[in-house]
This record gives sequence, C-alpha cells and structure tokens, in this order.
Amino acid sequence: MKRPRLLLLFLYHLSGLIPGILSSRVVTLGSIEIFDTHEWFGSKPNVYFQCRGENRTFLPDVKQSHLQYTFKGEESWQPLTELNEKKCKRCGLFEMDSFKPDDVFDEWELCPGDFVDGKYVQFKDREVNATLICLECSDSNGTQSSSSNGASITRKSSVALVVVICLLTSIIMIAVTTVIYKYWQKRKREQDQARFLKLFEEGDDIEDELGLDPV
Ligand SMILES: *[C@@H]1O[C@H](CO)[C@@H](O)[C@H](O)[C@H]1NC(C)=O
Ligand SMILES: *[C@@H]1O[C@H](CO)[C@@H](O)[C@H](O)[C@H]1NC(C)=O
Ligand SMILES: *[C@@H]1O[C@H](CO)[C@@H](O)[C@H](O)[C@H]1NC(C)=O
Repeated sequence: MKRPRLLLLFLYHLSGLIPGILSSRVVTLGSIEIFDTHEWFGSKPNVYFQCRGENRTFLPDVKQSHLQYTFKGEESWQPLTELNEKKCKRCGLFEMDSFKPDDVFDEWELCPGDFVDGKYVQFKDREVNATLICLECSDSNGTQSSSSNGASITRKSSVALVVVICLLTSIIMIAVTTVIYKYWQKRKREQDQARFLKLFEEGDDIEDELGLDPV
C-alpha cells in the first residue's frame, strides 16, 4: 500500500507551498522625516509615495521638515504598496507642485529581499529618512511571518483551506472513479470468462453429437 503514503506526502508538501503562493507582501510606512519641504515661502508640502505604474499615496500628516512622524500601519492611506516574491519595484517619495514638475525626495528600487526583520530604512542626505515595514518580506523566513496583521493572515488561511478542500474533493472523486472503473473491469472479465466457458461447453456438446469421443 504505497499509494496512500505518497498521497499524504504530496498533500504535506502542497500545504507547505500554499502560504508561500498566497502570501501578500504588504508594505506600510513606519516612520518618515523630511529634511526639506521643497516649498518656498514656507507653504505646506504635499508629500506622496508612488511606485511606477501605481497610484500615488499622499501622506496627509507630513507637513513639517525636521520632525519625525511615526505611523501604526493602520492609517486610512496605508498600505503604500504590495510586493511580489522575487520582484523589485521602482518607488519614490515626492512632493507635488501645481506649476512645476514634482520634486523628488528620493527614488529607489524597493525589493522584498532588502527588508531585515520586516524593516527597511531608506535614507537620503538632506532629503528624507523613511522606515518601511513589510513583515512578510524578510527573505529567509518570509513565509512564516510573525505578523500582527491578523486580518490578512486569517483571510490567507481561509483561502488555503478552500484550496485544500477542493484538492481533497478532487482526490476523493478520482479515487471513487478508479474504484468504480476497477469494479466494472472485474465484472467485464467475469462475464467474458462465463461466455468463454459457455462456448467451451457448447463445443463439447458438438463433439458429443459427432461421436468424436476422445480415446
Ligand atoms: C488607482 O486609482 C483609480 C482611481 O481612483 C482606481 O480606480 C484604481 O483602482 C486605483 N488602482 C489601484 C491599484 O489602487
Ligand atoms: C532614520 O530613522 C530611523 C527610525 O527613526 C532611525 O533609527 C535612524 O537612525 C535614522 N537614520 C538617520 C541617518 O538619521
Ligand atoms: C527571521 O530571520 C532573521 C535573520 O535572518 C532572524 O533574526 C529572525 O529571528 C527570524 N524570525 C523568525 C520569526 O524566524
């Protein structure tokens, strides 16, 4: 009985893979400090974060330079973006202007592997110091995050559960189909055998009628 054990092994590996496939690497802003507002006459800056090809995320609270703003990650405008497992994104911090091109605080490649213990500091002299948080990102042990983001974990595990249930259902269906097919094959073989025996008997009868008794 080798097959059930193989099946269990397969399921075990699959269940290990699922969280990796489904894990979303959500990036939030932990803290930020700007060293230059890029504004003349002391007007308030409009700071935003943006990755190429994505929407801008405005940081409504960040209005003063040389002041550290810290965030919980649950603010209305969070998260900043989401990363794929092995792919960097070109992202930056900017300051919006109405009458001229937006100012750039800093622009860089944001990579999931750069997070250490879920934390990544982007610092540029005289421009900005920002701490980004991505608990699912840390490279070596990315999938087993000690995330406090309970909601997303629950959602992920329920998706995993659905996947496992679907897989189990299809495996059971395959097993049932196999059993039915095997049974049908056996029945057919028995019927064939019966028909063959019958033919054989009829053959004997013919021999008897012809008087060809074996000596
Ligand atoms: C970007 O913004 C537009 C308009 O507000 C919205 O329809 C779209 O869903 C947003 N895209 C993402 C990826 O958030
Ligand atoms: C940038 O901010 C972080 C978080 O507050 C801090 O630990 C770090 O020392 C700062 N780096 C610089 C160069 O100011
Ligand atoms: C994740 O890995 C880092 C270093 O690679 C280690 O310090 C940390 O304890 C690990 N965290 C968990 C939850 O295993």
